[in-house]
Amino acid sequence: MEPIIEIRSLSKSYGNFSALNNVSLSIQKGAIFGLLGPNGAGKSTLIRILSCQSRPTSGHAYISGLDVVSDKKDVLSIIGVVPQENSFYEELTVSENLMFFGSLYGIPVIEIKKRSHKILALLHLDEKSQSPASRLSGGMKTRLNIACALIHKPGVLILDEPSVGLDPVSRKALWDTIRTVNDEGTTILITTHYMEEADLLCDRLLIMNRGKIVIEGNPEELKNMAGERTILITSTPGNYQAVKGKVESLKAVVSCSTSEKGLKISLRDELPLQAVLDVFESAGESIKNVESGAPSLEEVFIQVAGEAWH
Ligand SMILES: Nc1ncnc2c1ncn2[C@@H]1O[C@H](COP(=O)(O)OP(=O)(O)OP(=O)(O)O)[C@@H](O)[C@H]1O
Ligand SMILES: [Mg+2]
Repeated sequence: MEPIIEIRSLSKSYGNFSALNNVSLSIQKGAIFGLLGPNGAGKSTLIRILSCQSRPTSGHAYISGLDVVSDKKDVLSIIGVVPQENSFYEELTVSENLMFFGSLYGIPVIEIKKRSHKILALLHLDEKSQSPASRLSGGMKTRLNIACALIHKPGVLILDEPSVGLDPVSRKALWDTIRTVNDEGTTILITTHYMEEADLLCDRLLIMNRGKIVIEGNPEELKNMAGERTILITSTPGNYQAVKGKVESLKAVVSCSTSEKGLKISLRDELPLQAVLDVFESAGESIKNVESGAPSLEEVFIQVAGEAWH
């Protein structure tokens, strides 16, 4: 495995405020790398630096060995960027947009036509090639935004929250598109707030908070890092509110919440389940069901990023 993106001690400050703080990271060629973190964590700041839209205050970032500051022009020719806001022209047709972006890269017209054909088929936009972009649905606009970023066959595709506003079907179609682009050899860097997307689409994940890296790993590793599991206990008479306080005071219980179904408890692995069951028993509850779940990425995210609000 060889890294295609190398980030070394990268920092970005706005006045006294540190939006990125000494971030170092390698992204392997061929990866689908997910960048996660709460609002304001520094994800877009990092992406803007990698896509040459903003300069770091200190440190370096390289894409295919090219410095994003001093080799900006060359970097721009090997990356495709899908910003959060659509970058195409509403008044141009789908094909005209691709022609425009292709010509920005100096690609010959005949070649742009050939590539457009392929990209529009890939993104299921071929039927809309002659439609003005303004008349596309939201999901189609997202796909056109991606198409425009692919016209110069970039080795790295960077997407900032591409699935915002997409319905579940369109979101899954977007994942398929990203996987297909990745299968053809393009490394993907994507930010998202959807944990399901991160879990199912990405092979590597990074959670940032307040400009720093919190944890990095594949989705399974991240879930295991939480060292927590969740159990749902259903009992009769089901006076969960009364049991909750006592369960919460157990040392290894991380959090506890009541629902119609029962008492949901997040606990660290070292706590024997029996200790929890004893609390139920001593409160006069008889256990009906114990459901045990693996920690989800969402729980890990809340655990590591939750303190952002405090
Ligand atoms: N031009 C700027 N001037 C001052 N502060 C900025 C500027 N750009 C970003 N910031 C600050 O840097 C921090 C990181 O912002 P950034 O946009 O990178 O967050 P993010 O992780 O992308 O968040 P979100 O999930 O909400 O998109 C925020 O506190 C933001 O207010
Ligand atoms: Mg952002």
